[in-house]
Amino acid sequence: MKTPGAKPVAGASERLNEARISQKVIDSFAGTDDPRLRRIMQRLVHHLHAFVSEVELSEEEWRAGIDFLTATGQACDGKVRQEFILLSDVLGVSMLVDAINHRASEAASESTVLGPFYIPGMPERGYGEDMALTAGEPALVQGKVLDCAGQPLPGAVLDVWQTAANGMYSGQDTDQPSANLRGRYRCDAQGRFAIRTLVPVSYPIPTDGPVGRLLEATARHPWRPAHLHFMIAAPGYHQLVTHLFNEEDPYLDSDAVFGVKDSLRVAYRLRSADDPLAAEFGFQGGFHHACHDFVLEPR
Ligand code: BEZ
Ligand code: FE
Repeated sequence: MKTPGAKPVAGASERLNEARISQKVIDSFAGTDDPRLRRIMQRLVHHLHAFVSEVELSEEEWRAGIDFLTATGQACDGKVRQEFILLSDVLGVSMLVDAINHRASEAASESTVLGPFYIPGMPERGYGEDMALTAGEPALVQGKVLDCAGQPLPGAVLDVWQTAANGMYSGQDTDQPSANLRGRYRCDAQGRFAIRTLVPVSYPIPTDGPVGRLLEATARHPWRPAHLHFMIAAPGYHQLVTHLFNEEDPYLDSDAVFGVKDSLRVAYRLRSADDPLAAEFGFQGGFHHACHDFVLEPR
């Protein structure tokens, strides 16, 4: 028997069912003054609710998701470790945001992810100066920085960084001097740059946190194909953040963070000690040589 005075049970047409919950939450943001914030929050709720409804998330799965995000936040150290960016990277969100925000013309060089290991303020290095303070396969990377009409951009600055032969960046590996395999190279009057360095190696992204566990649970590997990072700036041009990938790397088609673009593949060709470039750049023995020109988009 019903308790006297109790409300009648809501009929199916009045219940706060799945569709009504979603609409109610979307409507709760209607009063947001900032139209961009309003749109982002309403579309976020729309897609998030559609996802939860589509997969019919169980309560255990919801709890596991909360625990995963909590662990992701706890893995961040406020310095080099940023597990949320790593999560964005392995979900391809970083590359999608990069693509949306760098719709450069066909003539300009393609961009790719910045990654978490950039350190500003690295030493300015001279034309052809060696940035390697640790051992590895010696290499020379040469090219020009040009505008979209093919004219050189003298004075363009290339901030360059890569891992050591052990697959770790300075900053990540406390045994390396902080300036190891990092430097800022200024183009000469013909827009040319020359970087003495090591042949980059493939390396795994950090796997000792929740993102690593996610990759393992989903049978994905953590490897990035060997690459050299660039951040290139010239007055009047958009900054270009990109990489050059070794064209023979086995992980080019399965980069853990989806950063590879065909135009960014380069060959590292072996040159002997009697090559004229060896004398010009001070190599004692053989070395690998890669060439690439970068094209910047005007502002
Ligand atoms: C990197 O290339 O340095 C990198 C990019 C994304 C995630 C981890 C590392
Ligand atoms: Fe990298």
